[in-house]
Amino acid sequence: MRLRKVLIKLTILGTAVGLFIFGGFGEFTKSQTANSRGQVKYLIGVSHPNLNGPWQIQMNQEIKNEISHHKDTRVLFTDAAQNDEQQVQDIHTLMSYGIDLLIVSVDNAVKLTPVITEVYKKIPVIVLGRGVKGYDYTLYIGSDNQLNGKMAAKEAINLLGNKSGQIIEVKGNEESLQAEERSKGFHETIQKESNHTIIRSINGNWLKDKAEDDLKTILKSGERPNLIYAHNDAMALGAYNALKQSRLEGVKIIGSDGLNEENGGLQLVKKGLIDATYITPTGGTTAVQYAMDILHKVPGLPKKIILRDHEVTLSNVDFYLKDRESESISIIQNKHKRLKLGFAQVGSESEWRLANTDSIISAAKEAGIELILKNADYNQQKQIEIIRDFIKQDVDVIAFSPKTEDGWEEVLKEAKNAGIPVILSDREINVDDQTLWTSFIGSDFVEEGRRAGKWLVSESESTNKAVHIIEIEGTANSAPAVDRKQGFNEIIQQNPKFQLLKSYSGDFTVGKGKKLMKEALKTYGSKIDVVYAHNDDMALGAIQAVEDYGLKPGVDIKIISIDATIKAFNSLRLAKMNFTVECNPLLGPQLMKAVKDLKNGIEIPQRIITAEETFDQKQAKKEFNERAY
Ligand code: AHR
Repeated sequence: MRLRKVLIKLTILGTAVGLFIFGGFGEFTKSQTANSRGQVKYLIGVSHPNLNGPWQIQMNQEIKNEISHHKDTRVLFTDAAQNDEQQVQDIHTLMSYGIDLLIVSVDNAVKLTPVITEVYKKIPVIVLGRGVKGYDYTLYIGSDNQLNGKMAAKEAINLLGNKSGQIIEVKGNEESLQAEERSKGFHETIQKESNHTIIRSINGNWLKDKAEDDLKTILKSGERPNLIYAHNDAMALGAYNALKQSRLEGVKIIGSDGLNEENGGLQLVKKGLIDATYITPTGGTTAVQYAMDILHKVPGLPKKIILRDHEVTLSNVDFYLKDRESESISIIQNKHKRLKLGFAQVGSESEWRLANTDSIISAAKEAGIELILKNADYNQQKQIEIIRDFIKQDVDVIAFSPKTEDGWEEVLKEAKNAGIPVILSDREINVDDQTLWTSFIGSDFVEEGRRAGKWLVSESESTNKAVHIIEIEGTANSAPAVDRKQGFNEIIQQNPKFQLLKSYSGDFTVGKGKKLMKEALKTYGSKIDVVYAHNDDMALGAIQAVEDYGLKPGVDIKIISIDATIKAFNSLRLAKMNFTVECNPLLGPQLMKAVKDLKNGIEIPQRIITAEETFDQKQAKKEFNERAY
């Protein structure tokens, strides 16, 4: 609260922005600019959209607390007071102070994305809590908002029972991605899984008073909802007040944020004023920790950290209201002298996989973790048996790269019952119960597909003629195959000149890539303009088939691939391949960090998404000698 007062005071005193400075020691004055910083080594700028809400205040407090551990670092905070133009201006002001890194949380993704893209060209940017459009930032930290909306919908269905109910949604803000995603998750689930109707969606701008006033007007007009779903607890409290003043009883209320303070979600649930909330971590502490890693140039940092939200109702609110200290009890008991990790590797199908296995072995050694690594030889049943064996051995943590998305419920329930946390490495799975796994560490495969598609779009810009494509997919029903197809299609479907001749189902191996391309050439011959292979190995196989057919890969038929291994770099260098999208196999260090965090009782993110690049022929030629795998 003190923080807000300082900000307001500064604003009243006539500063153009609510800007103030916080650091490990002494005061940092405006004259200490980038050129004369004294003992200050790093200057971090933090731009808030609005420091009026409790969640944003908590985020700021976390940043302040964490930065106090770094004596050589100062932070400049700005508060745009819910004015988008002001926030753009704030960011320019922070840049003029010579900040080394920007942490930014936005309400309006549309208006703020361009300035953030500009800043990202100059310094690292962490987008915190509320997202921007696209990928022009160093790191995103925040919740999975679509999942948050989905969880709220499931709870709404639970609260309303079988009868068909009427729901009013109070959204955060028209142009906030966070609100858009929550709304999407909520609407989709209500439509798919219930007979309830969302009779109205209004914008509460994240503010209690606006939600309260607008709902009062709606209730006055005679509308009678059975449930109000508000995108945050402040607006949920506004909904409670509106209902009370309208003397309406029995209407269920769901909020989100889950702060433990006066009028915070936890206390509202405890007092029975609202029925459910979602603890959505602000990520303030995590942001500073990663900011320091970025400033210290720690290699292998991720691109996205997706934090885990927790559902809170009357049945479990006491657990979350308990002293926070008790939450940091390790979920791993002291079973062994050294931490024991069982890793069920899916196979040795590709160069990528070999690099991935090496990374896990060397990172475990470095971290002092006892690793039992077993290979399932690309056989799902064998992989399940390996996991069962780890449960029998009572390892501390199990990690695995699931061959396909389905078929894991049973064995993961066994692991859960045995109290062994499971980390998904590289590939995700389809299970209803999200508590069957603790964390996912890997790539955004949909984005990889999009990047492949975007390259093709820009490469084909000068032609209006049809572009005929052969797609060689990865293993059927595996996460990379499903998602890479989706991402690629999303882009090429925007222009009818891109024509998919056929999609073949492959298995990520050179042999299958060659075989399938041979078949494709037999059917379509030189009509084929482009091959999109879901990994480098299959692309390399396809290149061989094209050469055998007497055509020039990379020239007569363009080759696009995913992984960016050294063998693909070599093909790019020789102009036989045209483009590869990086899929980072070096997941070992992040995995070992997660295992250690679990041991130390630190809640690990729900998803850790790796940072990745793309490479054309020119870039591959330049970086060939540095490529490690
Ligand atoms: O799951 C990652 C994929 O699996 C890689 O892209 C592919 O090469 C591997 O076999």
